[in-house]
Amino acid sequence: MNYSASFATMFDVEGTVAIVTGALGGIGRVLVRSLLTNKAKGVALLDVNDTQAEEFQTSLENEFGANKTLFLKVDVTDFEKVKDAFQKCVDHFGNVDIVVNNAGIVGNIEMVIKINLLATIQISNFAFFDFLPKYRKGKEGVIINIASVAGLYPIALFPDYCATKHGIVAYTQALGSESHYQNTQVKVMGLCPGATDTEFSKNLPEYYQQFINDIKLVYQSAEILGNSLIKVLKEGNNGSIWISKNNEPVYEFDYKSETLPILFKHVF
Ligand SMILES: NC(=O)c1ccc[n+]([C@@H]2O[C@H](COP(=O)([O-])OP(=O)(O)OC[C@H]3O[C@@H](n4cnc5c(N)ncnc54)[C@H](O)[C@@H]3O)[C@@H](O)[C@H]2O)c1
Repeated sequence: MNYSASFATMFDVEGTVAIVTGALGGIGRVLVRSLLTNKAKGVALLDVNDTQAEEFQTSLENEFGANKTLFLKVDVTDFEKVKDAFQKCVDHFGNVDIVVNNAGIVGNIEMVIKINLLATIQISNFAFFDFLPKYRKGKEGVIINIASVAGLYPIALFPDYCATKHGIVAYTQALGSESHYQNTQVKVMGLCPGATDTEFSKNLPEYYQQFINDIKLVYQSAEILGNSLIKVLKEGNNGSIWISKNNEPVYEFDYKSETLPILFKHVF
């Protein structure tokens, strides 16, 4: 087991600064709110869509007070703009401690791969090796990658999407190994939502919509993911992967015990 060192102290969200991508989406909004509810100092909201940014910021200001958020219109596939946004976040709030890679789509295959997988890897790498070691306030930085239950087992829905989410889970575990943590004191963890009621599930290509109707998929409320994020931030071990589905309390996927037998059978 290589997770021990990072669990000694519980991560404290109070006073931290977070960057959340896809922050104006159904899950993104809940994640932002949960961070502020838990007394984060500030959250940078990165999203390619700015149509409801002001309205969302105003509602957060009414709920949590002034100057808690910074909206930055950024396409996560434009890596130079992402780097610029990270710098703006530090200039504005003074530090950055948490990065949540949440932006994700279904649809055009190339965009699915770029947004879900490539951007998550590039942003994590950048946060892990550069920004979080340099600009975090406390002893540790944390990266949370939003994957999916479709990243744990090949679910027939959206094969290309499924591949990107598997990639995120594998990448998260590999970067979240103790040897990397020793160099940077940055934890990397994955949160896998099950089917969740957001716009995401409402604009699907017809083929997949039909598929979903046929299997009578049940959606959980996005609200559950707020508590899930906070529990993972506070209690998650480096490299751990968590499942948040069916409105149940989030729980850790025992990835190693489930996959090691496969590894020994087919690899070693
Ligand atoms: N809703 C579900 O059923 C479900 C299930 C499992 C995992 N997820 C994952 O949760 C995450 C959030 O999904 P959601 O349900 O909130 O979807 P959503 O469609 O409600 O929100 C996605 C947000 O990402 C933003 N976005 C899209 N492309 C972007 C880009 N290139 N750059 C920056 N922002 C971009 C959108 O503008 C939107 O605000 C995604 O990674 C998704 O794969 C969702």
